[in-house]
Amino acid sequence: MGDNFEFDKIVLVIALGIFVFIFSDNFGNLFYRPVFEPEKRGFEIEVAENNNMSESASKDLPETLDMHTIMANADAKLGEDVFKKCAVCHTAEKGRVNKVGPNLCGIVNAITAHKSDFAYSAAMLARAQQNLKWDYEILYRYLYAPKKFVPGTKMAFAGTKKDEERANLIAYLRTLSDSPPKLPQ
Ligand code: HEC
Repeated sequence: MGDNFEFDKIVLVIALGIFVFIFSDNFGNLFYRPVFEPEKRGFEIEVAENNNMSESASKDLPETLDMHTIMANADAKLGEDVFKKCAVCHTAEKGRVNKVGPNLCGIVNAITAHKSDFAYSAAMLARAQQNLKWDYEILYRYLYAPKKFVPGTKMAFAGTKKDEERANLIAYLRTLSDSPPKLPQ
């Protein structure tokens, strides 16, 4: 009886094998697992923003902005703290290396793609060709939603939706210069 039981099992396994062989659409696929290449090489650090839903996170910025008032109320010291979000990819002080992103010394009012030793995206280089500057308002809008403001930028940062945070940040960026540019009038 014991032997018969073993025999039954073997028959069952063979029958199953035949069954699988016949009913599988593509027999080869049972043994061949294609190895997919990852679509993107290299790495990207995406820094997410913890958006407070009560804020106007989903709303776009108004068409006209009073940059004078916005910057008059900004605090560079607080901005230095916000810069920690940027420091993953950017150095701030003069003469420091480019990281994933370019060094940002002297960025306020500089022409786009201000570092000649950094490999910018085509999108940034196109702005540079048009002599577009990083003035207060442009920075304020760019940092709100980088990928929306400059489609094609390789800056993998979601943006910071808090208005005071961006203003403070720009006030800090302004200090990164031997002769900080004038505040907006
Ligand atoms: C995940 C990495 C990363 C983070 C985080 C990041 N950036 Fe960038 N940033 C980049 C890269 C990469 C570029 C170059 C973009 C391109 O060429 O399209 C860039 C470009 C810029 C530029 C344009 C520089 C130029 O020379 O024209 C500014 C201004 C800037 N970043 C500001 C900031 C600020 C302020 C923060 C923090 C709120 C920040 N970035 C956070 C990666 C980052």
